[in-house]
Amino acid sequence: MQTNQQQGDGIKVQQQLPIIELGINVDHVATLRQARGTTYPDPVLAAQLAGEAGADGITIHLREDRRHIQDHDLNGMMDEQDLPVNLEMGNTAEMLAIALMLKPAEVCLVPEKREELTTEGGLDVVSELDALRQTVIELKSLGIRTSLFVDPDERQLDAAKNVCADIVELHTGAYANAENQKVQEESLARIVEASSYAEKLGIQVNAGHGLHYRNVEAIARIPEIVCLNIGHSIISRAVLTGMDEAVRTMKLLIVGARNTPS
Ligand code: PXP
Repeated sequence: MQTNQQQGDGIKVQQQLPIIELGINVDHVATLRQARGTTYPDPVLAAQLAGEAGADGITIHLREDRRHIQDHDLNGMMDEQDLPVNLEMGNTAEMLAIALMLKPAEVCLVPEKREELTTEGGLDVVSELDALRQTVIELKSLGIRTSLFVDPDERQLDAAKNVCADIVELHTGAYANAENQKVQEESLARIVEASSYAEKLGIQVNAGHGLHYRNVEAIARIPEIVCLNIGHSIISRAVLTGMDEAVRTMKLLIVGARNTPS
């Protein structure tokens, strides 16, 4: 395994870890739009701006209840922005048909419950082997890379290998929401072990859920992790860091109008 600092003849040699990618989940841009039923803010425009800022991919979750991302957003995401799309979805016939028609770069299969605020746990791949294998095979037949959102648990990783998934996305929610440092360290150790185990199985490792500006670094140091998918914290920060421009522009507009006879 590579380390980022190796000692040689007393000289510290800086050795880079493999490159890590950032996928941006723009669901919450759509949440804001749906709260008012307006056409703005547009998640496709958010994806374009994320790309200009250095994002490596875009994640969108098309939920059965369409609470944020809508079907028309999918077409825009495929046609009007350049980043590869990772479509998160439940393993249902409706979602599979949509994915096979759109052909995003990746599909991430997640468990989905109507009443949940966000995806609460990982997929139970062990008890859904046949249904998941069938979906993975259909997606792969069209060249769509398939990811399973799982808890950092070796049984789930073995099952992911069994159904021929290309990628596992490790659920970092337990780490992010740990009630104290000890629990967080234990959760981190599970993610570290699971990452190493998945890589040995030959499966790409991604991770995400609940990561923010104060907890992301320990996860980003895990060398096997290829991509972090992050949404809520980035969209939340963008709302506040964009406040200055948004207020100044509106103020200029109304003061300018008051001083300009119609
Ligand atoms: N990855 C998966 C599979 C998810 O379901 C979500 C939440 O939609 C994320 C990543 C992003 O999580 P968060 O919004 O907490 O950063």
